[in-house]
Amino acid sequence: MPSPTDRRVLSLLESHPQYREDDVFALSTKLRGDGFEPDVVSEALTQARLRQKAESKFGERAHTMLFTSDGLEQASRPDAAKHHAEQFLSAGVQSIREVGCGIGADTLAFAQAGLTVHARELEEDRAQIARYNLVAFPNASVELADGLLDVTEDALWADPARRGPKGRINNPEEWGPPLSRVLEAARRTRIAGIKVAPGIDYGQLPNDATVEWLSSGGDLIEAIIWLGLGQPSRRAVLLGEAELIIEGDPTTPAEMVEPQELGTFIYEPDPAVIRAGGIAQLCTQFNLAPVAPGIAYLTGNSRIDSPFLTAFEVIDVLPLQEKKLARELSNRHIGTVEIKKRGLEISPETLRKRLKLKGTESATLILTPLLRSRNALLVSRIQP
Ligand SMILES: C[S@@+](CC[C@H](N)C(=O)[O-])C[C@H]1O[C@@H](n2cnc3c(N)ncnc32)[C@H](O)[C@@H]1O
Repeated sequence: MPSPTDRRVLSLLESHPQYREDDVFALSTKLRGDGFEPDVVSEALTQARLRQKAESKFGERAHTMLFTSDGLEQASRPDAAKHHAEQFLSAGVQSIREVGCGIGADTLAFAQAGLTVHARELEEDRAQIARYNLVAFPNASVELADGLLDVTEDALWADPARRGPKGRINNPEEWGPPLSRVLEAARRTRIAGIKVAPGIDYGQLPNDATVEWLSSGGDLIEAIIWLGLGQPSRRAVLLGEAELIIEGDPTTPAEMVEPQELGTFIYEPDPAVIRAGGIAQLCTQFNLAPVAPGIAYLTGNSRIDSPFLTAFEVIDVLPLQEKKLARELSNRHIGTVEIKKRGLEISPETLRKRLKLKGTESATLILTPLLRSRNALLVSRIQP
C-alpha cells in the first residue's frame, strides 16, 4: 500500500477533490479504468473520506491536510490547540518539545502562534503525515524519535495516546507514553502541559500543578496538567468565555455542599466546573445548593445568569412513574420532550418511547433524586 504522502496518491487526491460515499464504487472503478493503480486509488479515496470526516473538527482546512483514522480521532480540536499555544505564549515560551505529535493538530497551533516546535513521533506514517500538514511552517519540525529523550527545550507538550486496540485505557501508566515518564521529562523544562483524560482521579495529579478542564458549548473536551504555570489550582475553562479557579493543591477532594429543598430554579453546571470540583464555589457565590446528596443539579430561588450554569425554571414536580407521567404530559398536550437526568438508572430514550407522547407542545424534563423522593421535574429552559 502506498503511503498517504506518496506523490501518486497526492496528485490523484488533488485532481478528484469531491468525495461522495454513495459514489465510491463507481469512482474507484472509473479511476482504475483510467489506468490508476488499485492501491493508489484506494489510498487516495481513504484520504478523501478522512478529509470529509475531518471537516467537523478542522473546517475547510481539512481539505489541505492528511490523516490516519486513529490520528484524526486523537487529534486536538483547533480551539483547544489554540488554547494550549496561548498558555505557552503567555508564559514567555519560545521553543517547545512536543512528545507524540500524531498527525500534528497541536503542532499546527503552536507553529501558527509563532512558537518553534520540535515535534517527535514514534509512528512513521503519522510523522510523515504531520510533516505534510506542517509544510507551510518552517518553525516546526517533526522527527521520527522518542520524544522523551534528550529534552533541551524551554517547554514540553505531551498528549499521550489513551486508546489501545481494546478501546479506552483508564490507567495513566498504560498510556503511550505513561504519565509518570512524561512528568519526569516535563520536570526538566520550565513550563509543561500534558493532556490527560478528563475523568482522571485527583489523586493521580501532581500536587504542585495547575490542572485545567476545558469545555466548549457545554461539551467537556479534555483536561491538561500544567507544570510551572504558577500557584497550584484546578480551573474550569469555558473556551473563549470564562474561567473558574479553585485555588490550592489540585489533589484535594472537591468540597461537598449540603443539599436543600427544591427552589424555583434549577441549574446545571458546565461539565468543566463539575470535573474541576467547582460546585461549592458556585454555590457560595450564587447562594445555591444541590437538590440531593452528590447530585450536580443546583437549586435556589433567584434567577442567575452565569456562563457556568444552564438555567431552568421549575414549572411542576411530576411523579417518576411511567403511567402517571404519561398522563400528566398528555394532559398538557406535550408531544416532544427533551429528557435530562442525573443520579438515576433510567434510559431517557427508552422512557421517551414508553411514554408514547402525542401532542403539539414540547417540554424539558429533568429526572433526578430530590431530598425525599425521585421525580421528573417539568422545567422551562431560560435563555441567557
Ligand atoms: C494522542 S496522539 C497525539 C495527538 C496530537 N496531539 C494531535 O493533536 O494531533 C499521541 C501520539 O504519541 C505518540 N507517542 C507515544 N509515545 C511516544 C514517545 N515516547 N515519543 C514520541 N511519540 C510517542 C503516539 O504514536 C501517538 O501518535
